[in-house]
Amino acid sequence: MSYMKGRQKQTRPSLAAQKQGISMITLDPIVQHNAMIFKEVRLRALQDSPSAFGSTYAKESPLTDADWIERAAKWNGEKSAGYLAMDKEMPCGIVAGFLDQEDVTRAHLISMWVAPTHRRLGVGRLLVDAIISWARTKRCGTVQLMVTCNNDVAIRFYQDLGFAMTGRTEPYPNDPALIEYEMSRPT
Ligand SMILES: CC(C)(COP(=O)(O)OP(=O)(O)OC[C@H]1O[C@@H](n2cnc3c(N)ncnc32)[C@H](O)[C@@H]1OP(=O)(O)O)[C@@H](O)C(=O)NCCC(=O)NCCS
Repeated sequence: MSYMKGRQKQTRPSLAAQKQGISMITLDPIVQHNAMIFKEVRLRALQDSPSAFGSTYAKESPLTDADWIERAAKWNGEKSAGYLAMDKEMPCGIVAGFLDQEDVTRAHLISMWVAPTHRRLGVGRLLVDAIISWARTKRCGTVQLMVTCNNDVAIRFYQDLGFAMTGRTEPYPNDPALIEYEMSRPT
């Protein structure tokens, strides 16, 4: 028994060792040539966390490959940036940022998701940092987002990354029992 415990201690990577693995994660801009990976990750995110997003798997799964290629181009235009987190060849996260259509000093962070296998390793932080950096290059002073009121983990995550509730709320489109909180932070 004690031998097994000893073995477990030796074989299970420590949290520090797991977090060192984060240095192996790369962020790939979403572009037309990785549109099928984008499709796969986005559909996984919608299935894994159905109440975290404004859209749904039912709405996006019928999109054609041509739609995803067009979408990939839109997610990396003059007014937008999208990133896939890659653990070598394995996609493990996604995020996008868009400039506000009326006020270009504001950017919106959307579609934030990290694969369950890669959570609490700093991948989410890397993805948010990428959008903050992009927003700075666009001279945005503020990055804002909407988070569903029952998504305690995401609210805590964003708070720990410097976002605060603005006080503005909206109805959550997929469930009338829920609302979304707006959060923002300076860049
Ligand atoms: C929210 C989410 C993106 C966080 O991604 P992640 O890669 O696990 O986050 P990180 O490892 O970068 O965490 C950064 C910090 O956020 C906080 N945090 C993240 N997850 C947390 C949790 N489950 N409980 C408490 N704090 C948490 C911690 O302060 C953490 O730093 P630490 O690990 O050094 O303590 C991820 O849980 C997810 O994809 N959830 C489902 C989809 C979703 O809700 N998206 C948001 C839509 S608005």
